[in-house]
Amino acid sequence: GDATAMLIKSYACQRRTPLKHHNSFLTEALEILAQNAEYNDNEGRSVAFRRAASVLKALPRRVRSMEDLRCLPCLGDHSQRVIKEILEDGSSREVESTRQSEQYQAMKALTGIFGVGVRTADRWFREGLRSPDDLIRTGQQLNREQQAGVQYYDDLQKPVTKAEADVISDVVEKAVHAVLPGAEIQLMGGFRRGKEVGHDVDFLITHPEEGKEERLMPKITNWLEEQGLLLYQKTTRNSYLEKMDGPARASSNMDRFERCFSIFKLQESAASCKSNCSASAEDVSAAHEHHSEASGWRAVRVDLVVSPYSQFAFATLGWTGSKLFERELRRWAGQEKHMSLSSHALYDNKQNLYLRAKTEEEIFAYLGLEYIPPSERNA
Ligand code: CTP
Ligand code: MN
Ligand code: MN
Ligand code: MN
Repeated sequence: GDATAMLIKSYACQRRTPLKHHNSFLTEALEILAQNAEYNDNEGRSVAFRRAASVLKALPRRVRSMEDLRCLPCLGDHSQRVIKEILEDGSSREVESTRQSEQYQAMKALTGIFGVGVRTADRWFREGLRSPDDLIRTGQQLNREQQAGVQYYDDLQKPVTKAEADVISDVVEKAVHAVLPGAEIQLMGGFRRGKEVGHDVDFLITHPEEGKEERLMPKITNWLEEQGLLLYQKTTRNSYLEKMDGPARASSNMDRFERCFSIFKLQESAASCKSNCSASAEDVSAAHEHHSEASGWRAVRVDLVVSPYSQFAFATLGWTGSKLFERELRRWAGQEKHMSLSSHALYDNKQNLYLRAKTEEEIFAYLGLEYIPPSERNA
């Protein structure tokens, strides 16, 4: 074992995890097993594989032998077996057979539909359905969200680029400022962590004058709809009440902000079209013919969340991710600090009080953690 390996802390929120690391050949394999465990409704097993993968992402160099893993936390027997096989044979039989399995591939295709979770996908899989096409062919009952998911499936499968996220940011900013001048908009999720592509674009919206943000979302979506920029939207009202939801429920995963899960109609500029098609500047119109639909626009998933100013720091921390980083923050708060952390608040269960914060830095400090910037929360 080397000295650096021994410095790896056991909670992901105690570590710096950059976006680019040295062990994707191992982490991708472990994450397939994590994903498969999730498809089989085995959350404990899934989290164990994700924690193991995450530790390898934080290592300063490529793992070359089992010796390099001595003293590392979170590596269970099963993960170690998989790693050993990959180091010795170049691949793991369990990972490869999972990757090729009909269940894994069907669950991936079905849960890849917007609005379809593991439970629904599993039911469809048991009924013999394997793909979005199978759902259409057999005339499955779909809710409004799933209908949109099937309709825009191909577009929503394509990664969203940072350039596209920036265009959407401008659109969202324009919409928000049209209906509430002085509101603040922040890009969240993977793009805030420095990712170059994402599966969607996430935004957090607030206003420095508490109360101004109430019932803001319907105004935003109305404006967007009038401009013809929305293909789908579902808005949920804010249902957070500190007295009722605070300490008891603060560790619950799902927050209660006013939010909107949407699909934007993104106009594709000649420039982005050109780069997508890798055609020359003069050849943009010819390049269009490579597209299955030469429509000039694409569908993009966008999440909008509105937070009261007093909760903005918690909402920012909670919507930056990664999902594992968030999970580990809550686990650290509960197990090590006897506190309950949510995207709304931090509650100290020993002092029986809420800890107020204006910045993410203050929240890390309350939790007794070194501040980790968004670009190093890619756990
Ligand atoms: N989140 C949440 N509640 C949800 C969905 C998401 O609090 N119902 C949070 C997640 O915990 C995460 C952030 O929102 O911190 C972004 O989630 P998501 O968009 O799913 O993932 P990204 O990290 O942005 O990755 P991707 O690029 O795939 O979008
Ligand atoms: Mn996202
Ligand atoms: Mn999202
Ligand atoms: Mn094109």
